[in-house]
Amino acid sequence: MIIAIDGPAASGKGTLARRLARHLNLPHLDTGLLYRATARALLDQGHDLFDRAAAISAARGLALTDFDEDSLRGRDMAEAASVVAAIPEVRAALVEIQRDFAHRQGGAVLDGRDIGTVICPDARPKIFVTASVEARATRRALELKGRGEKVDYAAVLDDIRKRDARDSGRAAAPLKVAADAIVLDTTKLDVEAAFEAALAIVETCAGGETLAAQRAG
Ligand code: DC
Repeated sequence: MIIAIDGPAASGKGTLARRLARHLNLPHLDTGLLYRATARALLDQGHDLFDRAAAISAARGLALTDFDEDSLRGRDMAEAASVVAAIPEVRAALVEIQRDFAHRQGGAVLDGRDIGTVICPDARPKIFVTASVEARATRRALELKGRGEKVDYAAVLDDIRKRDARDSGRAAAPLKVAADAIVLDTTKLDVEAAFEAALAIVETCAGGETLAAQRAG
């Protein structure tokens, strides 16, 4: 079973994907980390964020073991990741890592922007997680505060709007709802309610027996 979870920044898709994976005993890949790590490698090598050739080379040199997740989670890397993610060759360089992960025996949960549309078009179910931009900014501000970052709500809201525009407006694999995705709007849901709703989607898609076997295995 490959579960694809897509959605805009701070929609709660990462938290949902992690919880579903834990619940179902499946490995989980947060594909945003690949773009964040590409941006980090690029900047660490002293290149400009808009240096296309260097960005492509950084993406090609990436391995899943490279990640220091904590250093990739900040506001600066979110913005930088969104810039390098618009380069088609960067995206192409990261396709195989994601597909290899998805096609492990037993299945996987992947979250990102183009999992259901480009990386795993055959994934079932596909869940598109969304929430109002204000709710997402509030959540992201709380998360950043929890990480010890100084937070200005208006700046976070502005960041998210910019990222939405860039991630949805780019030509290469833009953020969009796959034709066969189920949209889950979490604006009015807390983490628990969002998880229950996502699990219900997975259960409907898989059927009770398959899911019980999955959990046992
Ligand atoms: O999910 P995230 O916020 O960690 O993602 C950071 C950026 O990476 C996001 O703004 C766009 C890009 N991204 C992407 O283009 N495709 C993905 N599958 C995941 C992330």
